[in-house]
Amino acid sequence: MRRILAAAALVAAACSSPRGGSEAPPLEFDPLPADPHSYSRPNDARVVHMRWTWRPDFDARTLHGVAELHVRRRPGVRVLTLDSRGLVVERIGAGPTDAHGPAYPHRVGAPDPVLGAPLEITLPPSTGDRVDALVVTVVYRTSPDASGLQWLEPAQTHDKSAPYLFSQAQAIHARSFLPCQDSPGVRFTYDGAADVPERLTAVMSAEGIGGPSVRAAGRRFYFRQERPLPAYLVALAVGDLAFRATGPRTGVWSEPGVVEAAASEFRDLEAMVDATEELYGPYRWGRYDVLVLPPSFPFGGMENPNMTFATPTLLAGDRSLVSVIAHELAHSWSGNLVTNADWSDFWLNEGFTVYLERRIVERLYGVETATRQAILGRNELAATMDEFKDRPKLRRLKTDLAGEDPDDGMNSVPYEKGCLLLVLMERLAGRDRFDPFLRAWFDAHAFRSASTAEFVAFAAARLPDVVARIDLARWIDGEDLPPDAPEFDRSVFAAANAAARDFAEGRRAAKDLGAASWTTDEWLRFLAAAPDDPPASKLAELDAAWGLTGRGNAEVAAAWLARSVRAGYEPSYARLEEFLVGIGRRKFLKPLYAELLRTPDGRARAEAIYRKARPGYHPIAQATLDRLFAEAR
Ligand code: BES
Ligand code: ZN
Repeated sequence: MRRILAAAALVAAACSSPRGGSEAPPLEFDPLPADPHSYSRPNDARVVHMRWTWRPDFDARTLHGVAELHVRRRPGVRVLTLDSRGLVVERIGAGPTDAHGPAYPHRVGAPDPVLGAPLEITLPPSTGDRVDALVVTVVYRTSPDASGLQWLEPAQTHDKSAPYLFSQAQAIHARSFLPCQDSPGVRFTYDGAADVPERLTAVMSAEGIGGPSVRAAGRRFYFRQERPLPAYLVALAVGDLAFRATGPRTGVWSEPGVVEAAASEFRDLEAMVDATEELYGPYRWGRYDVLVLPPSFPFGGMENPNMTFATPTLLAGDRSLVSVIAHELAHSWSGNLVTNADWSDFWLNEGFTVYLERRIVERLYGVETATRQAILGRNELAATMDEFKDRPKLRRLKTDLAGEDPDDGMNSVPYEKGCLLLVLMERLAGRDRFDPFLRAWFDAHAFRSASTAEFVAFAAARLPDVVARIDLARWIDGEDLPPDAPEFDRSVFAAANAAARDFAEGRRAAKDLGAASWTTDEWLRFLAAAPDDPPASKLAELDAAWGLTGRGNAEVAAAWLARSVRAGYEPSYARLEEFLVGIGRRKFLKPLYAELLRTPDGRARAEAIYRKARPGYHPIAQATLDRLFAEAR
């Protein structure tokens, strides 16, 4: 009985709004370790809830926001420090207008190129000797070049009928559109509303509540995110959007002209959620929807809670690229539920998620498909390790990113080396022990962040025999791929490998490759296995037999186009330009431009294409490519 009462009290505490009131739980918060990528001081004062109303001005490329921050602070603390980048603060006080009492003095510190600027707000004095609660309302607007927002003209969208706005906050871009404690350890709930022009629809990393209400100058959409999340998972998008259900709790959002293709490509969404629940416990976020963005979206996918953001380049027509969706869904456990303590622990988000992704793929599409993708990933890791041979620090699982842009830590090391470590543990433990172990990890840290050291301690306590057989220090802090890195059954690529060998050595003509039934993954393996410098005549032969320049599958196209540039295969260049101008996914852009930059003639082409394409790229992609062009000089 006492246990039941205690549980009821916990539930009541968890459900009661953090906005104060008589039923408020005792005001406290756990200490957090320092985060080198945030100016905020969450151990002094902590944002626990936000009521956010925002309004895009498409003409001025400015987001107007009122962020009502519900703060808890320790006794004696007089300053709330938030992260910001390029924000124009209009007023800060207890409420949005003068009617809500006096303004709170504030100061914006000197901006740092990576971190932005601290926004220091002087709070009224605290009384008493306990943690207290207060509301700090920031009225502000964003700058037109906010790094976390992309504003699109109608011409840059699929349907070309309406403007579009979307955010991308990971790793530290939330601060460019929201004054916040932009550190993955700080979690808050949020709710609020978006005022958007007539005909446009707003979505967020939250659940929409009710339909929009009609207002004088447009429509107002309402949102609520009841699960506490870190700032990097706050997301919004506005455009001409339509919805199709793919199941009772899943669906797709996109421009109307894309929504049927999206619903068909992602028709397995509901089954994916079910499969992941069977492996790792309940999906704790309510609905799971996917927003398919315009082509300038700089990533494959982004795990915004309730609303994965995805590139339209996943719409291959044959579901061959849905592992990216499995990946973003998996983040609902690894990353969103249990979050890396700071960005040096990024592998805890991504390595776990790649591992989960492949388990989901195995459940839905079979062990052969999962194995092929594991091999492609392992090969990519080998290439990355090689690329970093002069910067061996980048080969470490746990990184040291202090003073650097955490976005620079996004490469296959945290993803694939991290995944390999988990595969190794799985093989030593056996799935019958490893699956419950991972589930327990998620349960034990749900809605909290965790560090690499905490993971090691957890593993040592629960799987001591496994940990005893692994040199974890070498895996985590070492600069090589340890010799016990798992291998996979490479016979799944026997056909593609043999075809590549025979074709390179002139034993088989292109038309005799037997590739008619190849999957996307087999094509990717074949193209990667080709020798480094095949003559253009070989590519012409392949193209004539298999129509590679005309392929719509973006992964195959990108691999083929890189090969074409390397070989100087002219007939692909028109397609290359169309691809580079039309698609903004950084993973494709960077290697293709890099390939062009290897020769003077290529450089001239790259510069001409980039001049045309750059205005349509996302700020994050622009920054990466500006650097690539500068470094290749
Ligand atoms: N969370 C990442 C995207 C990300 C990482 C954005 C770091 C900004 C900074 C997302 O889950 C991801 O990993 N996307 C991958 C696809 C995945 C299948 C490897 C991508 O976009 O390529
Ligand atoms: Zn990821």
